[in-house]
Amino acid sequence: MKSRKKRPRPKPPRKVRPKPRPARSEVKPNPSLPPPAPPAGPLIRTFTPQPPPPGLTTGIRSPGNRPPQPTASVLRPMGEVLPAVRVAAAGRKREVSALVLAAGMGKRMQSRDSKLVHPLAGRPMVRHVVDAARAADVARTVVVIGNQADEVRRAVGDSDKRIGFAYQQDQKGTGHAVLCAERQLAGQQGDLLILNGDLPALRPETLRGFVEFHRQSRAPLSILTTVVPDPRGYGRVIRNYGGDVSRIVEESDATPEERATQEINCGIYCVDAANLWKPLRRARADNTQGEIYLTDLVEILKHDGQKIAAWRHPYPTEVLGVNDRRELAAAARVLHRRKAETLMRDGVTILDPETTYIDVDVRIGQDTAIEPGVMLLGETVIGREVRIGTGCRIEGSVVGDGTTILPYCIIAAARIGRACRVGPFAHLRPESHLDDEARVGNFVETKKTRLGRGSKANHHAYLGDTEIGRNVNVGAGTITCNFDGVAKHRTIIEDEVFIGSDTQLVAPVRLCKGAFIGAGSTITRDVPSNALAVSRAPQVVKEDWVKRFGPAARNHRDGGTRKD
Ligand code: UD1
Ligand code: CA
Repeated sequence: MKSRKKRPRPKPPRKVRPKPRPARSEVKPNPSLPPPAPPAGPLIRTFTPQPPPPGLTTGIRSPGNRPPQPTASVLRPMGEVLPAVRVAAAGRKREVSALVLAAGMGKRMQSRDSKLVHPLAGRPMVRHVVDAARAADVARTVVVIGNQADEVRRAVGDSDKRIGFAYQQDQKGTGHAVLCAERQLAGQQGDLLILNGDLPALRPETLRGFVEFHRQSRAPLSILTTVVPDPRGYGRVIRNYGGDVSRIVEESDATPEERATQEINCGIYCVDAANLWKPLRRARADNTQGEIYLTDLVEILKHDGQKIAAWRHPYPTEVLGVNDRRELAAAARVLHRRKAETLMRDGVTILDPETTYIDVDVRIGQDTAIEPGVMLLGETVIGREVRIGTGCRIEGSVVGDGTTILPYCIIAAARIGRACRVGPFAHLRPESHLDDEARVGNFVETKKTRLGRGSKANHHAYLGDTEIGRNVNVGAGTITCNFDGVAKHRTIIEDEVFIGSDTQLVAPVRLCKGAFIGAGSTITRDVPSNALAVSRAPQVVKEDWVKRFGPAARNHRDGGTRKD
């Protein structure tokens, strides 16, 4: 092992000592040391929240309003925390690109769909990886697609010009997948991050740290490894007596002795682009799976006398590939847990993070409290000082400051203003829009409906395709009959209308400002401003009718023989 230290320069004055080069032992993991146990608390200490996109109106005072942190810490093997170095600011200015392998099917998932498009925490699996690379400031990302190419391409999204695609016709292995991207990456100088597409929990901070490690190692190839108690299914990292990585062996090609190795290959590589294509073309499919393995690059470079650097990641949960549904659930849990940690750190109360599922793209303002068993999905935006009751599921919606959502509400693609009260048991379907201070109570369903400021529908109602003005009272049991069997029609309810209970509004119909609808009415024609409309039959009262004609009287008349 070369551990020769640089001799001090002839006579530098003591205080201007040359910057020490990283000692070999710093960049080489020490195989004799076990990795630290995962932390009990947050796995992630260095997550930097994303600033919200401009133009959102919920008034969230989000952490994004803080000045951006210029650096983040990166986790080093053995759990040390180093000050971060931004990739672009590293010693040698080299470009970093990323190659994401996403052409495989993922058979162990037992699914009709490619493994890479399975959603978790609000994004398709492969997009987590592409987004992590992008957030780590890579100059360009190429995604290798093949199986269900269109779906995977769509899952990645093709609006970003810095993302390109390469096509792998037949899935002949990870090494072959990389070679399929040669044309797209030809001429690319600097470093290339190669990432399996099934690593949804991978963080940009880790990628940055890994690239930095790779540069310091001066090896043409660095691999990211981790140690797990049960390494089944993963490629094992084989080291020689000196502790250097000598090769990676897939489980099906491994000897029993090799299989016992608990250090696994994570499918995260950083390679000097100049040292990739030619050596990789030498990889042969002479293994049990008959595939061209990317992992063979280790042995090939080793054979050429090159050094392979390995960065041992201390927390396996971040870097374990997802192959089946069990691992999918485990990765989703990591993402939800991480999101909850970030939100709590930024001033959101989450009573029970274990049962709260908040997708990665959800944003929540300070002093909002979330009760157990809540799901906040998609790009939902929740304001400040909101309370969300247990059992709510809110997807792709906006909730304004100071609003209370009582337990068990289902809300999708809705906009709810400030200081509203919703639920319990309300169902706000797409295009429901509540202005400030509106109220929707239990067993109320709305769809394509706007409820004006201060208006209320407190109990048992269906409001569909309806425009409701300000300070309207919608009585219990009000139903808009918006569908005539062929088409949907609109109901317009102007400001200050009062609708008595158990009313049917047969659309199209308009209730003009200040109109008053008597309870139990079926309204089929427009009601003018300030008018009363009532359509029920007049009440009939017959004195002593029960005594004369009631059941007892009838039974007596039939000679007392009736039983029913
Ligand atoms: C791979 C590694 C293994 C490592 C594990 C980590 C190889 C040979 N083995 O195994 O050492 O421990 O990842 O999770 O690399 N893909 C393609 N085209 C192909 C084959 C695969 O694009 O022809 C893509 C897949 O879509 C996937 C990634 O490459 O995103 C990894 O493939 P997968 O089949 O999951 O590899 P593993 O067998 O898990
Ligand atoms: Ca895998």
